[in-house]
Amino acid sequence: MLLDGKPVAKMIYAEIKEWLGNLQEKPPKLVLFCSEPDDSTKTYMNSIVKRGGKLGISVEICHAGENPVEEIKKLNESRDVAGVMIMHPLKNVDEKLVVSALSLEKDVEGRTPGNLGGIMTGDESFAPPTAEAVMEILRFYDVSLSGKDVTIVGRSTTVGKPLSMLMLKKGIDATVTICHSRTKNLVEKIKRANVLVSAVGRAGFITKEMVGKDSIIIDVGINLYDGKIVGDVDFEQVEPEVAAITPVPGGVGIVTTAILFRHFMVSSRRMVGRR
Ligand SMILES: NC(=O)c1ccc[n+]([C@@H]2O[C@H](COP(=O)([O-])OP(=O)(O)OC[C@H]3O[C@@H](n4cnc5c(N)ncnc54)[C@H](OP(=O)(O)O)[C@@H]3O)[C@@H](O)[C@H]2O)c1
Repeated sequence: MLLDGKPVAKMIYAEIKEWLGNLQEKPPKLVLFCSEPDDSTKTYMNSIVKRGGKLGISVEICHAGENPVEEIKKLNESRDVAGVMIMHPLKNVDEKLVVSALSLEKDVEGRTPGNLGGIMTGDESFAPPTAEAVMEILRFYDVSLSGKDVTIVGRSTTVGKPLSMLMLKKGIDATVTICHSRTKNLVEKIKRANVLVSAVGRAGFITKEMVGKDSIIIDVGINLYDGKIVGDVDFEQVEPEVAAITPVPGGVGIVTTAILFRHFMVSSRRMVGRR
């Protein structure tokens, strides 16, 4: 089965459009806060601006000035702004300090220490969208994780670590193994998984020898290979050998953007509720 991200993203955008359609006033803004963005960051920012335009949400690019921490604090206070994305990497700026200054409620990417810590206690405002996108795809296609062995390859703060916490939650109840570049017997850990999540960033990393006919494969990787966007999984080889797999592109990535805008909607609703 193909775990296509398109109907999942479509469902989320339909929720957002319904909310926007019922709004009595103009929605607040989403701010992209950056400092000397590189080309790939610019491309990413443009895609968010474009998606916001399609939805009717105003997305503003804000370049860091002399005192980025104070600028973030002003955005925290602004009644016109419901979400702030701090674009990584922030050049010539202490990124950790800037991210820490952002309020949990406007941290639509779930990057602040408060939101990341909240994933452990179940008190987060927002989890990182990529981790949540994986959960949303599994939910959409009725893949239960209860009692299943999940192997996540990759331990980043945006994907592997928060995803492990979401999967461990009571009620989700997966048994999770997280792997990284120093993991011993990686292939054995991948092979024994009921569900494999690959977030490594290397094209062709997961091959057909590593999977079985009951494996469910979630490919988070986005890699440029031979002028094309591909995941970590050798899709052509692996797809016929497994029970279910996400495509790249058209899988986790497009759901991630939809989740980001859903977070923005939630934050906007909370703000309007407080007005
Ligand atoms: N779909 C989306 O929306 C989305 C969002 C974010 C990222 N991504 C993509 O997901 C991929 C990972 O992103 P990231 O930000 O998590 O990357 P990252 O911070 O570079 O993390 C990569 C992880 O892979 C591990 N790794 C590298 N080589 C390995 C090997 N040979 N064996 C086992 N583990 C290995 C690293 O281990 P160490 O920790 O030991 O170095 C690290 O934990 C990239 O392709 C990125 O473009 C997609």
